[in-house]
Amino acid sequence: MIKLIKSTFHREAETRRALAEFVLHQDVLSMNEQCRAFEEAFAARQGRRYAVFVGNGSVADLLLIQALLNEGRLRRGDRVGVSALTWPTNVMPLIQLGLEPVAIDCALDTLNVSPYTLEPHIGGLRALFLTNVLGFCDDLPRLREMCRDRGVLLLEDNCEALGSMTAGTLLGNFSLASTFSFFVGHHLSTVEGGMVCTDDEDLHERLVISRAHGWDRNLSPDRQARLRADAGVDDFYARYTFHDLASNFRPTELAGFIGNRQIRYWDEIVGARAAHFARFGQAMAGNADLHRYDLSHMDLVSNFAMPVVCRTPELAGKYRAEFEAAGVEIRPVIAGDITRQPFYRRHVRDTAECPVAGLVHTNGFYFGNNPDLTEDEVATLCELLGG
Ligand SMILES: Cc1ncc(COP(=O)(O)O)c(C=O)c1O
Repeated sequence: MIKLIKSTFHREAETRRALAEFVLHQDVLSMNEQCRAFEEAFAARQGRRYAVFVGNGSVADLLLIQALLNEGRLRRGDRVGVSALTWPTNVMPLIQLGLEPVAIDCALDTLNVSPYTLEPHIGGLRALFLTNVLGFCDDLPRLREMCRDRGVLLLEDNCEALGSMTAGTLLGNFSLASTFSFFVGHHLSTVEGGMVCTDDEDLHERLVISRAHGWDRNLSPDRQARLRADAGVDDFYARYTFHDLASNFRPTELAGFIGNRQIRYWDEIVGARAAHFARFGQAMAGNADLHRYDLSHMDLVSNFAMPVVCRTPELAGKYRAEFEAAGVEIRPVIAGDITRQPFYRRHVRDTAECPVAGLVHTNGFYFGNNPDLTEDEVATLCELLGG
């Protein structure tokens, strides 16, 4: 069986042993120094000024939207573009927090929102919360320029694209802020975990406040002093003073500890996935049954799952059956066309057609791209992709 998720961690055995030791000897297990150290290491590795560690990628998305509302950069009722091909918890926070998602179709050769699919919608948007789908991207520099020219806030959901690069820049660094997931099977696993990155000082402060109850406890002393003066509270009442809308999105110290170990393997993890992706791409190249991707604008493609989009639904049936018969665990291409999902139809009035996401929905599937795939497993997958 070639499972979607092969292991919990990279270098599984040594990571589990180190974690067991840590739990035995560590006093504080709630968010503390390990989490702070992981934030610093992640911000440095990603090349962002700030990183805010949270419980998972879904709440990273929710926290980012809440913080932007608290800051006043987003307002209730604003229209926010999303990728039609994405994960539900990228879109759900918008609905939960009173914004209006606008689904934007993807291009077939990149599976991502492109300047052409964005153009008809950009006029009415306050923000674009772009998903970098499965480690791929379209013309991100041009998308960034379009957003800048039209006064649209650009945000990236980079939960599926850690380590991928285009135009010499890591995905996740094209926007005001970006989110990451460290769920098992994603590029870098802390079992559950997520991050919000930004270079913006004010947004960073709001993220930190909104991550934990709305209090100022995790801010620097000078920022605490300013907020306490504004609220007119002394140091005693400051302990339980709540400055803005929040929830509790904190990670545990265990996740911080694992993150600090796994981040050392960033290059190994990303490199192995990129190498597998290149082999899969070559295997698909001569197969006329499958749509091919054009990612020549990307410097590095690192994905955790490999999408396969067939030319017809019948071929999709055939390839899904062949992969399953060979013992390969497969899934739909993330949530497919998000506008067809029951939650979306129930809560969103937007009825824009997304034909390409629809085609990916009906003709597609994916299988796992894990750094621990064996040579035999990669060969089996390549053979299946060759048709
Ligand atoms: C694009 C995208 N956003 C958000 C998430 C949510 O991340 P998590 O599973 O850590 O909650 C995922 C999860 O796979 C995702 O693919």
